[in-house]
Amino acid sequence: MIDLQDYSLLHHNTFGIDAKCRRFIEYTSEAEAQQVAKMLTQDDYPILIIGSGSNLLLTSDYDGMVIHSGINFIEQVDEEHVRCGSGFEWDAVVDYCVTHQLYGAENLSIIPGEVGASAIQNIGAYGAEAKDFITEVEAVEIATGKICRFTNSECEYSYRQSKFKHEWKDKYLITAVTYRFSKTYCPKLDYGNIRVALTEKGIAEPTPLELRNVIIDIRNAKLPDPKVLGNAGSFFMNPIVEKAKYDALAAQYERMPHYTINETQEKIPAGWLIEQCGWKGKALGNAAVHDKQALVLVNRGGATGEEVVALCKAIQHDVKEKFGIEIYPEVNIR
Ligand code: EPU
Repeated sequence: MIDLQDYSLLHHNTFGIDAKCRRFIEYTSEAEAQQVAKMLTQDDYPILIIGSGSNLLLTSDYDGMVIHSGINFIEQVDEEHVRCGSGFEWDAVVDYCVTHQLYGAENLSIIPGEVGASAIQNIGAYGAEAKDFITEVEAVEIATGKICRFTNSECEYSYRQSKFKHEWKDKYLITAVTYRFSKTYCPKLDYGNIRVALTEKGIAEPTPLELRNVIIDIRNAKLPDPKVLGNAGSFFMNPIVEKAKYDALAAQYERMPHYTINETQEKIPAGWLIEQCGWKGKALGNAAVHDKQALVLVNRGGATGEEVVALCKAIQHDVKEKFGIEIYPEVNIR
């Protein structure tokens, strides 16, 4: 177990914010996670459980304990089930699947983050989400040190949401996640510009590896590399609006992109709303809106968390004023 005091989190957040925490703990097994649960005292609080910090914005030093899972393994349980340690890198799971004839995860290639976060955040891209594959989440209950197992339905997944972000927030240390992938390859190509990108490469029927590589190319073209430009991927969630609201806007903005959720709700890309407000490529201090994807806020170098929050608020204000729609951060702001 790693147990450090007064520790810089610079290498634990992809925004590249240099904030410190009072204490930093990393557990590397289920038994160590139980040990952490048992040793926590009131003095250690507040606690912040992090993955690779790819969806985290630190606004100041953290006067509490940061906990990270270092449980790193992947094992194939049977033909279709793969069990992974919570600290295992998500994209390494996708890579494992592609090389072991397990299908379904290709569209989730190079989403930054770790297995534990995939189960909390229900990561998603190009028409696929982690919840489509999760069968079991293993965790240690912090209050009791008890080992718990949750089914997919118990986690109450929806768009970027789960019970771990609400009722169960900060109550469990996730240790492992089991996913069920398919032995049958059914590629999902009708989302976003996947087909266009494949056609450009002269590919009509991609192999799983070709599909993975195309997704990697699409993401790399739009999303900045955190090693070069600090960021946390999509900063905002795409707002879901009532059909009447959508109809009114669609009449005004004929080219407004949208995804139909059900008969009464439509999802509108926040990146489009932000671009329409003129924010794409614009900066406020050292924080800026990415010039290739307005949904992504970036650290142009030396930005403080507060600068990013100021930019976030200015954008929220303008989107509300122009479209009458509230947009909310997807990123965990602490
Ligand atoms: N758009 C604009 N201007 C922009 C950005 C987007 O007009 O600056 C338009 C695009 O033209 C397109 C639509 O908005 O019509 C959607 O854009 P895109 O396909 O890039 O996806 P997104 O809705 O912005 C979501 C996820 C991403 C995921 C992609 C691909 C959320 C919050 N974000 O973004 O996830 O990779 O779809 O499926 O749902 C992440 O969570 O960090 C993330 C990157």
